Amino acid sequence: MTDMANSEFPGIIAGGGDLAAFLGTNKAAVDAALGDAGALLFRGFDVPDPQAFDAAIAAYGDPGFTYEDSLSNAVRTNVTPRVFTANEAPPTTEIFLHHEMAQTPLYPAKLFFYCEIAAHSGGATPLCRSDWVLERLTAQAPDFVARIAEHGVRYTNVMPGTDDAGSGQGRSWRSTLSAADQAGAEARLADLGYSWEWQEDGALRATTPALDAIRVLADGRKTFFNQLIAAFRGWADSRNDPNRAITFGDGTPIMSADMAPAIQIADELTYDLAWQPGDVALLDNFAVMHGRRPFEGKRRVLASLIA
Ligand code: FE2
Repeated sequence: MTDMANSEFPGIIAGGGDLAAFLGTNKAAVDAALGDAGALLFRGFDVPDPQAFDAAIAAYGDPGFTYEDSLSNAVRTNVTPRVFTANEAPPTTEIFLHHEMAQTPLYPAKLFFYCEIAAHSGGATPLCRSDWVLERLTAQAPDFVARIAEHGVRYTNVMPGTDDAGSGQGRSWRSTLSAADQAGAEARLADLGYSWEWQEDGALRATTPALDAIRVLADGRKTFFNQLIAAFRGWADSRNDPNRAITFGDGTPIMSADMAPAIQIADELTYDLAWQPGDVALLDNFAVMHGRRPFEGKRRVLASLIA
């Protein structure tokens, strides 16, 4: 397993010159490499600023998935129409492994990241092949895998009334649900099959319908496509208790003992992408989990979502 992790993941495409031109002429080969590796790092190309990153995404050509339309919990700021800050949570906050927006019914197929400024120390993006996690987890904890396969999982998140940039889960319910008021929020939640409860301080506790926790890829591989690790390890702030964040689809709590094997296996399989300025990464969101290590100094990693 470590041989595979060291030699083939992520795929590294060392190049030079204009990344937009490269992606425009090599899309089929890039997509084939992405299918094999699950994550690609483009290093050595000329990507001096967010505009060049935007141009590279445009040249790649797949349609975008917008943050406004998403149900993401993270507070973000747009830099160009398709490029935004990856997550404005404080530097000391670790963002644990997850598939982007797998805790909602709406998620992107791929993600682009771009390092404009690398942190003084720390700030790597951990990457983890989710098909490898599921394979080992199925051998080590077959009952847990059978339960999430049969019932799916539910996520509960408490959203503030206004954006709280001090939390990795700080996006307000007004922004998350594109709602002006409580009635609008309730209409959107009902549409999505969520249940909810208003809090005294104007925050909103929302619980998803049962969502699939395992995904079958086009080639038949299965992945641990969910947000369980990030929700269990990381959804702690003044409003959110990680112990209440996840349940099996039938409402039974998912306990620490249930999560321990998945967390341990994922940690063992994780590759830390240590950013260099100008790096661009492309991730298959259905195959690879990502996160963010804590860091010191100024770090600017931008993201773009592909539908
Ligand atoms: Fe993310």
